[in-house]
Amino acid sequence: MSNFIQIPKGTKDCLPQESYVWQYVESFLRDKARKFGIKEIRTPIFEYTELFLRGIGEATDIVQKEMYTFNDKGNRSITLKAEGTAPTIRAFIEHSLYAQTQPTKVFYITPVFRYENVQKGRLRQHHQFGVEIFGSPSPVCDAELINMAYSIYEDLGIKDNYVNINSLGCRECRPTYTKELEKFLHKNVDCLCGICKDRLEKNPLRILDCKNEKCQNVLVDAPKILDFICDDCSNHFEEVKSFLKVFNIKFNVNSSIVRGLDYYTRTVFEILDKNGLALCGGGRYDNLIEQIGGKDVPAVGFGMGIERLMIALENEGIKVSEEETLDVFIVMFDKLFGKDALKLCNELRKLNISCDLDYLDRNLKSQMKYANKINVKNVIVIGEDEISNNYLNIKNMSTGETVKTELDAKSIKEALEIKR
Ligand code: HAM
Repeated sequence: MSNFIQIPKGTKDCLPQESYVWQYVESFLRDKARKFGIKEIRTPIFEYTELFLRGIGEATDIVQKEMYTFNDKGNRSITLKAEGTAPTIRAFIEHSLYAQTQPTKVFYITPVFRYENVQKGRLRQHHQFGVEIFGSPSPVCDAELINMAYSIYEDLGIKDNYVNINSLGCRECRPTYTKELEKFLHKNVDCLCGICKDRLEKNPLRILDCKNEKCQNVLVDAPKILDFICDDCSNHFEEVKSFLKVFNIKFNVNSSIVRGLDYYTRTVFEILDKNGLALCGGGRYDNLIEQIGGKDVPAVGFGMGIERLMIALENEGIKVSEEETLDVFIVMFDKLFGKDALKLCNELRKLNISCDLDYLDRNLKSQMKYANKINVKNVIVIGEDEISNNYLNIKNMSTGETVKTELDAKSIKEALEIKR
């Protein structure tokens, strides 16, 4: 093992014995999207770096410290997908999706790469289920998405989550607030942590969600954005809240939610589990499509970490589903019957029956043992008697019952269907 190259820090393998959990969750998410009339979009795993610089914001932690950026062989600066929103917008503009009937509602399931300090629930490659709605300024969309994200956890059995919402205003009203905040923070600069002293110059809003105790003490008296937003933003926020009540969703208005990406306008939200783990985050970003080079199209969306969803499932003790087992295992009485077994196996698969046989020259007893171990539903033994008499027995491994049938794939399929 001394020469062995291990998995890169902050990444995870999804092993065959656990991939069914991912498949279950992914198909649940796809089905949820279907119910909301949302179609899938797939974008490349890398983009030109400029897209993320413009999209996420140059002063953010993601752009400053976390992107996987390199020059390709043509000396173009490339970045591995650092989030799903900017690439989705790029595709929306590039393929003129805005010229189709609006709104455009899309979802994605994608790996995301960020060079983070690794800890439980914080990876360097994680996966996100994200949804974006382009083309509607309506607060209904904000509430619909919060409801959709919230219901994903509820339906999966992950209860007692917190929904935090805030409004960050728009480009008209936010600068007034930012100025006030900067004034306040400059007065208290000596009491801020080192990171926030730096943020004060680059991205003062981010100081609001600093978890450092020193900063928290300062922030108690900081001006609150909700006291500064304009009437339009305020009405929008009130409407979002009233729609959330329609869905019966309990939420907290938390003026320190600013999110780690610069593009948000008006509504921002996050969903935390009962242990405070950020399961999901999103909000409205009405200027971003234009900023990336498209038309002035309003938009809103969210992204949820799939690994964090898995952690929450585990914490709740939820076993999502049984691993799928094989319908039939064909045991060869002797090696001589290998070709007959292989032929039957192939025909059963064509009839949509999952089927397998031994690849390791095991004897009869070891094949039976193996079939038991892999938890197969039915076993068929094939040997001289079966071939010359054109019959076989199908043994149901959980009940021990056997059913006699003719030796051909169709009869076996029928016998299996009757047994079910
Ligand atoms: P984000 O808050 O950076 O937002 O990420 C969304 C979610 O991805 C987080 O709430 C968390 O569950 C998960 N996540 C983020 N970083 C990690 C990590 N290092 N390891 C594991 N899970 C992680 C966005 O990315 C926005 N694009 C969301 C959005 C879409 N806003 C509007 N539309």
